Amino acid sequence: MIQILDTNYRYMTENDIEVTREIEVKANPVPWTEKNFTDCLSNDYYCLIQEVNKEVSGFAIQTTSLKKTHLLNIGIREKFRKKGLGQDLLNQIVSTSKEMGSKKIFLEVRISNKEAIELYNKSGFKKLSLKKNYYRLPDGREDALVMVKKLRKAWRFF
Ligand SMILES: CC(C)(COP(=O)(O)OP(=O)(O)OC[C@H]1O[C@@H](n2cnc3c(N)ncnc32)[C@H](O)[C@@H]1OP(=O)(O)O)[C@@H](O)C(=O)NCCC(=O)NCCS
Repeated sequence: MIQILDTNYRYMTENDIEVTREIEVKANPVPWTEKNFTDCLSNDYYCLIQEVNKEVSGFAIQTTSLKKTHLLNIGIREKFRKKGLGQDLLNQIVSTSKEMGSKKIFLEVRISNKEAIELYNKSGFKKLSLKKNYYRLPDGREDALVMVKKLRKAWRFF
């Protein structure tokens, strides 16, 4: 049976920080702090909430300029994973970045994060470089893979 999900996107507010922190704590070995999230909001980063049937299912945070978008964080709540929602959220980021005139999207991902790397590969991101010891772990450091996706101008699609 095909499952139809009623997905909605909106901007993140201070009221979402508790739930985004919950997602983050389950997603990352050294998770972002509450302050990391509030700083993103107060710096006017593009902070997006994904909802399914009015329940928060995921979030994404990006900075966007005419030159480039930097995807800083993305996460889907565990019970909502493997349903196409991470892909949908990433598609949303790509569309927004194009509309804002960005030429490229950059991101860093832990080299062992197979799920996320698969998602980015599938979405047309290419491996660009390695940042040695970029991520802190509870017991050491881990390299980051830097990935990039070149964007075509949004107006080409109209
Ligand atoms: C990475 C993440 C966002 C994917 O979200 P999701 O909703 O489960 O992903 P989707 O269901 O949309 O899957 C899209 C694609 O991602 C890849 N993928 C997702 N989960 C995967 C898994 N467990 N193993 C391998 N590939 C996986 C696949 O390519 C999948 O396409 P397919 O279904 O055709 O195989 C989610 O696992 C997550 O929140 N992880 C923790 C946070 C994180 O790592 N963020 C990235 C920081 S850089």
